[in-house]
Amino acid sequence: MKVNGVALRPLRALPDGLGVEVIDQRLLPHRLQMRPLGSAREVFVAIREMWVRGAPLIGAVAAYGLAMQARRDASDGALANAAALLKGARPTAVNLAWALDRVMRVVMAHGVGRRADAAWAEADAIAERDVQVNEAIGRHALPLLQAIAARRQGGGPVNVLTHCNAGWLATVDWGTATSPIYQAHAAGMAVHVWVDETRPRNQGASLTAWELGQAGVPHTVIADNAGGHLMQHGRVDLCIVGCDRVAANGDACNKIGTYLKALAARDSGVPFYVAMPTSTLDLGLADGVHGIPIEERSGRELTHVSGRTASGEMVEVQLTPDGSAAANPAFDVTPARLITALVTEYGLVPAEAGALRQLMEERA
Ligand code: MRU
Repeated sequence: MKVNGVALRPLRALPDGLGVEVIDQRLLPHRLQMRPLGSAREVFVAIREMWVRGAPLIGAVAAYGLAMQARRDASDGALANAAALLKGARPTAVNLAWALDRVMRVVMAHGVGRRADAAWAEADAIAERDVQVNEAIGRHALPLLQAIAARRQGGGPVNVLTHCNAGWLATVDWGTATSPIYQAHAAGMAVHVWVDETRPRNQGASLTAWELGQAGVPHTVIADNAGGHLMQHGRVDLCIVGCDRVAANGDACNKIGTYLKALAARDSGVPFYVAMPTSTLDLGLADGVHGIPIEERSGRELTHVSGRTASGEMVEVQLTPDGSAAANPAFDVTPARLITALVTEYGLVPAEAGALRQLMEERA
């Protein structure tokens, strides 16, 4: 996608084949800054501290992290240690393990001397495939928006609600949930996005709103608690969100607060879609609600908030009383029964065990 008219991705492999550059997402929307990463340990820190975030992006960046390790020491032990370190950076998004396992499988098929180039090529392939997958997700979801636009009497935009940031910043390009929005906007459809602020880290208010603004997509940031009210009053046509892990039964884990939106959508008869690259599907996990590991992050993300002052300085301030405890589960799981459909790179799929198994068997 473009920033100030210039094509930009949140991840760029450096031409020397030794490192990558990433957008430091902690600074957005106030500062756009690329940072170099040159070792598996630096990649680990960037993922854990959320300079990079979003399930597909952390998978792709981790793949390069393992390739960086292969450049330094490609012995079995060194690679296994680096893969274990990177896998532990964040526990919920399964794309991390998926990408690392993919690189490991490829490198282990080579002798030590050829492993670095093989790992780098596999990381490139993971990153490029992510772009194609997200474009395809958008293409498959676009008719959902077009059908609403066609039914609309007297014009007015199609109103989409999204939670967190499942945009291009969370992927290598396009985003998952935002891909149909960008494609609809590019095709000239009037579309407006309700952007959940997404406390506590505010990925909606700071990242999704910034992305949509750069693309010229009309949008409105709302408090996380406003979605139910808007749905009740017919002001949301469709919800679409991303996901970090989908279990074999179709339960979908995404940023904390997604579940409440799905409940409100069901009560108000608003369709609720989950954009799911199949790299986010964990068929090894039977039941999402009870099986998906939920990351617990620091309470400081709740008790403090950072932003820009009128003079342009970035500051952090405290919201809560000294001494109040804060709990910060970072994700929740939306049960399959609340999901209208999963939008994959192969098309729409019911959030249901048989359909998911069949899809993956067909595509194996
Ligand atoms: O904690 P984050 O910012 O990494 O959480 C991101 C999300 O929950 C996204 O919705 C999800 O990773 C899908 S990104 C296409």
